[in-house]
Formats: sequence, C-alpha cells, structure tokens
Amino acid sequence: MTGVEQLKEQSGIAACRFVSDGMALGLGTGSTVRYSIIEIARMIKEDGIEVVGVPTSEDTRVLAEHLEIPLRTIDEAIDLDLTIDGADEFDPNFDLIKGGGGALTREKVVAKASKSMVVVADETKQVSTLGEFDLPIEVDSILWEEVSAEISSICPGDVTLRGGVGEPYITDNQGFILDCSFGPTISNPKSLEREISEVSGVVDVGLFVGICDAVVMASRSGVETLVKPGGRL
Ligand code: A5P
Repeated sequence: MTGVEQLKEQSGIAACRFVSDGMALGLGTGSTVRYSIIEIARMIKEDGIEVVGVPTSEDTRVLAEHLEIPLRTIDEAIDLDLTIDGADEFDPNFDLIKGGGGALTREKVVAKASKSMVVVADETKQVSTLGEFDLPIEVDSILWEEVSAEISSICPGDVTLRGGVGEPYITDNQGFILDCSFGPTISNPKSLEREISEVSGVVDVGLFVGICDAVVMASRSGVETLVKPGGRL
C-alpha cells in the first residue's frame, strides 16, 4: 500500500467512530470512503451493530451489496442519521468540492437528506481556497454544448467535457460532467453554486456548501478530526 493509500485507509476507518447501532447511513463514493464501507461491514459482522445504508452511486451499491450491508434507496430512507463521504477539496469553512468520481448529484441528495455529514480525506485535500481541483458540474447530456458555452462565461479557465467528445464519461443519471478550471479562486462557493445552478441544463454542481460537519483527515502525523464550529456534530 502506498503512503497516500494508507492515509485513506486510516481516515476511512477512523470516521466510523461516528457510526452507531440503529443508524441509517449515507454511503459515499470514492477510494477513501471505500475503507469506511469495509469497516461498517466489519462492524455489522463482528460487533453486531444493525445499520442500513443508502449508496450514492452504482459503484458503492455494488461494493456494499458484496459486503452484505443492508441497503435502501434514497426514496425508502429519507431521514438519514449520518453520511460519510470523501471530497476532492475542503476549505476552512468545511465547504467542499466533490465529484471527482462523477457521483456528485446523488452524493448531494444523500448528504442533504442526512442529519450530519462527515468527510474522510487525506491531508492533500485541505486547501485555503477551493478551486485548484477542477470543479465538476453534472449537465444534461443533450444540452452539454450550450451549457459549456454558458459556463465558460463564468469560469476563468478551461471547461472540459470529461472523457472527451468521442467517449464522454456518463454518470449514473445518464448525464455528462464538465470539469471547470476555476483555479484557487472560489472564495464565495455559495454564490458560485447559485450562479451555476441557474444555467439551464445544469443538473448539479460539485460545490457542497454548509453541508459538511466534520472532516476526519489523515496526515503523516496521525488522524485528526476537525469539527465545524456550530455544526451538527
Ligand atoms: C465522487 O464523486 C467524489 O465526490 C469523491 O467523493 C471524491 O472525488 C473523493 O474521492 P477519493 O476519496 O477517491 O479521493
């Protein structure tokens, strides 16, 4: 296992201290939260806790099913106790960029339906201002060119169709993803999220504002839990 992979594992497992018996859990998507999902399955089998999970992507559904975690769809479990998910970046206000794995729309629906959200991350995800990581935006696959042109008037850098025109990446919702190069300039993610959401053809934006309550961050010096002041945890 590489150094970064070890940090992901440590963070993913440590975040499971927020999991307790009887919870309905949002199960995020990505290579870090994968370790949380494996740990939750272990807690079910070895510690005897009973939980249900709502997966945020088909990849997570397949993994959780394989690990025999009882699952519900989002329409069956509207009140979730906790969502654990990864992030591509988090800032000092606990606002996030997500969607590197393409699952941002369901991730946001599930996180918003949860009483709290914990992000699992290694130290490379911590930034002072969001935007170094290209902002993913899910868009309608028919309208993507028009949307791309509109977003280009908002985004100072390149707006790229993920996968390219020949073989575009297709989300679980049959949408496309535009990766938008803002650079580390997103100091007001709330207003940017609103502005982009108003463009017709946008399905959702990978900015998660005011949703995350804590980040379990692994670094070479250990695992730290950063709890948002005034948050829900
Ligand atoms: C999935 O769409 C993303 O939001 C992921 O949660 C995010 O990209 C973090 O993934 P990793 O843990 O694999 O870096």
